[in-house]
Amino acid sequence: MLKIEQLQIIYENFGLDVENAGFSKGLNIVLGPNGGGKSSFMQGVVGYGQPDIEQRRIYWNSQPLEGVEAVISYLPQENPRFKIIVADYLTMTAGNVSHAACSAAVENFDIAQLTGRSIEDLSGGEFKRVQCAQVSLENKPVIMIDEIEQGLDLKYQHEMMKWLRDEGNCRTVITSMHDAALALTYADTITLMKEGRITGPMPPWAVTSEMISACYGLPLKIESKAGIALVYHSGL
Ligand SMILES: Nc1ncnc2c1ncn2[C@@H]1O[C@H](COP(=O)(O)OP(=O)(O)OP(=O)(O)O)[C@@H](O)[C@H]1O
Ligand SMILES: [Mg+2]
Repeated sequence: MLKIEQLQIIYENFGLDVENAGFSKGLNIVLGPNGGGKSSFMQGVVGYGQPDIEQRRIYWNSQPLEGVEAVISYLPQENPRFKIIVADYLTMTAGNVSHAACSAAVENFDIAQLTGRSIEDLSGGEFKRVQCAQVSLENKPVIMIDEIEQGLDLKYQHEMMKWLRDEGNCRTVITSMHDAALALTYADTITLMKEGRITGPMPPWAVTSEMISACYGLPLKIESKAGIALVYHSGL
C-alpha cells in the first residue's frame, strides 16, 4: 500500500494538504476540476518537478518511500519530446528487458507501425500509447499517470482503461482524468480532489451526484446502466 501520511505543498496562490490517504492494488482514479491539485499531488508523491513541498511523509509497504524510482513509474501530464526512435524510447527507462516483453508491449499498445518513427513526429494519442508502453516495460509496483485519457480517441481510451484495470490486479495504479463516466465505470476507487483537498479514496458506488456536483461546481447526475456509469449535466 502507498500511504500518504501527509503531503503538503504551498505555492503562492494555492495550497495542497493531503493527510492519511492509502492507495492499494487496483485502479485508483483521481478526479477533480482544473487547478484542483491533481498534478501537484502526483509531483509531490514522486518529489519531481520541484513542487514547493512543506511536508512529505509517504510510506510504501510501511517503509518510508525514499527510492521512488524503484517503486513508482510516473507519467506526467506533459512529457517533453526529443529526437529518438520509438523502439529506443520504449526501453530507455526499463533497464534490461527481454525481446519477448518488448514485442508484447508493442502488440498490447498497438504501436508496431510506429517503432521506426521519431517520437517528435507522433500524434498526441500515438505518443501517449508509446509512453504507456514504456511504463508497462518498467514493471514497477506502482504506476502513476497524470491524465490518462488525454489525447486518446474513444477506442484507445477504453483500451487504456482495460490495461490499467488489468495492471491493478498486481500493482497499485493511480491515474487522474477528466472523464468522470469512464472513471466511474472502470475504477476500483475514486478520489475527488478540489482546492488541494481530497475526498476518498472510495469505491465508485459511494460517489454520489451531490459529491461530484460539488466537486465540479456544476449540477451533475450519475446514473449506472449495466455496470456502465453515465454522468450528465442535469441543469441543461
Ligand atoms: N509550480 C507552481 N507554482 C505556482 N503555482 C502552481 C505551480 N504548479 C501549479 N500551481 C498552481 O497550483 C494549482 C493546482 O495546479 P495543478 O496543476 O496541480 O492542478 P490540476 O488539478 O492538475 O489541474 P488540471 O486539471 O488543469 O491539470 C493551480 O492553481 C496552479 O496554477
Ligand atoms: Mg493536472
